[in-house]
Order: sequence, then structure tokens, then C-alpha cells
Amino acid sequence: MIEKNQTYQVTITGMGEKGEGVAKIDNFAVFIPYALIGETIEVLIVKVLKSYAYGKMLNIIKPSRERIEPKCPVFYKCGGCDLQHCTYNQELEFKTNKVKDCIKRIGSLNIKVNNTLGYEQNYYRNKSQFPVSPDGIGFYSPRSHRVVPIENCLTQNENSNKAMNIVKEFMELFHIKPYDESTKKGVIRHIFTRCALTNQVMVCIVTATENLKSADSLVSMLKNEFGEDVSVIQNINTKNTNIILGDKNKILNGNGVIIDKIGDKFFEISPHSFFQINPHQTKALYDKVLEVAQFEGNERVLDLYCGIGTISLYVAPYVESVIGVECVPQAIENAKKNSMLNNIKNAEFYVGNAEDMAEKFPDNDVIIVDPPRKGCDEKLLNTIKDLAPKKIIYVSCNPATLARDLKILTGYGYTAHEVWPVDMFPRTAHVENVVLLTK
Ligand SMILES: C[S@@+](CC[C@H](N)C(=O)[O-])C[C@H]1O[C@@H](n2cnc3c(N)ncnc32)[C@H](O)[C@@H]1O
Repeated sequence: MIEKNQTYQVTITGMGEKGEGVAKIDNFAVFIPYALIGETIEVLIVKVLKSYAYGKMLNIIKPSRERIEPKCPVFYKCGGCDLQHCTYNQELEFKTNKVKDCIKRIGSLNIKVNNTLGYEQNYYRNKSQFPVSPDGIGFYSPRSHRVVPIENCLTQNENSNKAMNIVKEFMELFHIKPYDESTKKGVIRHIFTRCALTNQVMVCIVTATENLKSADSLVSMLKNEFGEDVSVIQNINTKNTNIILGDKNKILNGNGVIIDKIGDKFFEISPHSFFQINPHQTKALYDKVLEVAQFEGNERVLDLYCGIGTISLYVAPYVESVIGVECVPQAIENAKKNSMLNNIKNAEFYVGNAEDMAEKFPDNDVIIVDPPRKGCDEKLLNTIKDLAPKKIIYVSCNPATLARDLKILTGYGYTAHEVWPVDMFPRTAHVENVVLLTK
């Protein structure tokens, strides 16, 4: 029987959903962070639950040929990345297998899962959210709110790293206190940035207080680095919450938005709006949507969970009309402006919950859904069944909920075709997917 605080020699035979190694001891699955498939290691059992356990890798006896030295010096402390210790090929294989496993185990579906479409790159994230704490500015260590200080994160845009270091210098120069979650005292909670391919930069300082002392000096410092038009926003979040942004924004410089581009389309983005975080792979993802959709030009499309209208406007030139629905009002404001910015006349956008709004738009040939990680609401899936579009295109950032929803939709008489995984999040265990369903 497996025991806590005992050490064992094991061979890693699988990988868990977060990229951790999995070994079997007495038929118990043991999850071991940073162990790679095929490796023989010495493991210390740190927690035993009813049918599985957690272990800590003490020693690698036989390393995998896919093991590499992490480029980031804080990889083993920081919770930002999961997979800096293996080759990118191994990472892509892990992602493909993860999707296959969900489709088969959760979806009970026997459909082809293609190899993950990857693009190895550093500094890819166009949106960063650095927590600020008395321990420093950086990222939380795994499963905690203890901040691991970072100066140059290899996944965040280089301008985000610069902006974070400027705010840090500003805090030191002007004695601005970091927010302390335990005492609920202090000023700056988070540094939130967006950096566009157009080189525009947005820096949003999330404060626990209404007042940000010496804000003019911060604006000067940021202008010095990023130019006169840099968007600087103070976001006020006085709540005791893990949600990063509060409801109130004070624009300190610029117009409070930035413009980014995907392919030949331009998009205005507010701090509260969703925008895909990897510009290179977003184009690959949206091109995949176009490829699987095989539009003929006469389709009426309903784009649910449309954000700032990116997919709607990307597909609009290839169809008769598009209606986008999204629950964040600022995102719909952006979407409407984005139609004008791209001179698109056949797209309309509405604020509301997809599950409540879908039935209001019954005349559709194609429904695109791109829900958050929890997947589609059951009510929405029911409505889709009644609306009976010829095609559904499901874009998902969570293979588990994708598989669950595909099972429901195939139960409604749809055929799910191939799954196309796209790596939007290199060095993490996350993977995006596109699937076409037809009636
Ligand atoms: C994964 S994002 C996709 C956005 C967009 N399709 C894109 O590619 O940028 C999911 C979006 O759904 C929105 N959302 C979350 N729950 C929703 C709901 N119940 N109804 C409508 N929109 C929702 C979020 O605000 C977010 O903009």
C-alpha cells in the first residue's frame, strides 16, 4: 500500500492534465510535477488521497531525451509556465494526447484529433497581469498567492516586462506601497498591460485606493519609454476579491484603448474586453475556422461569445451576414467600432448572455461558439438543437468541456468532424481547439 513520506523508484508512464508526470504504484496513479514520460525517477509521496496520490521528484535516475534545461531561472518556483523542462516537440505531443484523451474519455467520441499546430516562440503574450505584493512583482507560485518576483518573463511581451519594471521603479522612487492581501493595506494590486502588434501599449495600474499619488510622474516615465500616446489607466478595485480588474477606470493618458491587428483587420480593445493573447497563433486559429467552415458566401452566421467581434469580422467578408453576441458591454462597444474600423457593413453586435440571446436570432445557417473555459451553458446547447443550424463551429480553450459539449451536440444529431488543436499558449499545459459539426 502506498504511504505518505515514503520514497519509491518509478517509471513515468503518462502525463496529467497540467503536464505533470504520472506513475503507477500499487495501482495508484501518482502525479509528479516536472517528471517526464519515459523517465525513471525517485519520488517522495507527499499526499495520498482515495484513489490517487501526489509526489515530489527527488532524483532523476534515467532522464528523458526530451528533457531540456528551462530557459527561465524561476521556472521551478513560478506557477506561470508548466512545460519549460521539455522540448517543444514533446510539449506538442503532450497537447495532442491530452485532447485525444478528453475526446475519447469524456466525449466518448471516435473522431480524428490532428497534431497540434504549434509555433515555438518567446515573449508571445500580448496581455500580462503581474500581481504586486510586499514580496515583489511577478507571478504567483503554483496553487498559492505568494508572488515570485520576476524581471524578464519569457512568455510576456517585451514591452510588458518593460512596463512592469517602470512601475516598480516608480513605486520605489515615490514610496508607493504594494497592496498586502493579508492586511488589506497598500495601494497597487496589479499591473495589467496589453501590447499590440501595432506597437501600441496599454498600462493599467490596478489600485486598492481611489488616489494614486504622483500619477503624473508615472505617466511621464511611461511616455518616455512608449511615446506620447501610451494608454495609461488607473483601475480601481477596492473589493476583497481574486478578480483583477475593478469596475472603475480613470484614464491618465491616451484614449483608454489600444488598436491591435490580426491579419489585415484592426481591432480596438478596452481593458475589460477579451482578446486572444497570442497574435501569431490567433491568425492561425481564425484561418482554421475559415478553412473548416468552407463558406460559400450566402451564409447567415451567429457568432456567440464574440468578444470584441474578432471572429465575426474575420469571417464577415466570406458570408452574407454575421450577428455577434457577447456579455461584456465594453467588448460590444469595441466590436461595433471595429466594424467601422474595418469598413465591414454586414455585421451586427448585441450585448447579452449567449444562452438567453441565441433564440432571438433563429435564421442562421452557421453558429460559431467560442465560450470561456467552462464551455457552453446547457440551455444554449438546447437552443442550438432547436435552431438546428447546418453547421456549428466550436472554438474552445478547454478540451474537457469541449468533449462534454460535443457529446451533447452529437446526441442532438450532429456529426463532429476532426479536431484541430492549436497551440496558443506555448510552455503552458493549455491548448485551443477548433471542431466543425454538421447536421
Ligand atoms: C474565449 S472568449 C472568446 C472571444 C472571441 N470569440 C475571441 O476570439 O476573441 C469568450 C468570451 O465570452 C464572453 N462570455 C462569457 N460568458 C458569456 C455568456 N454567458 N454569454 C456571452 N458571452 C459570454 C467573455 O466575456 C469572452 O469575451
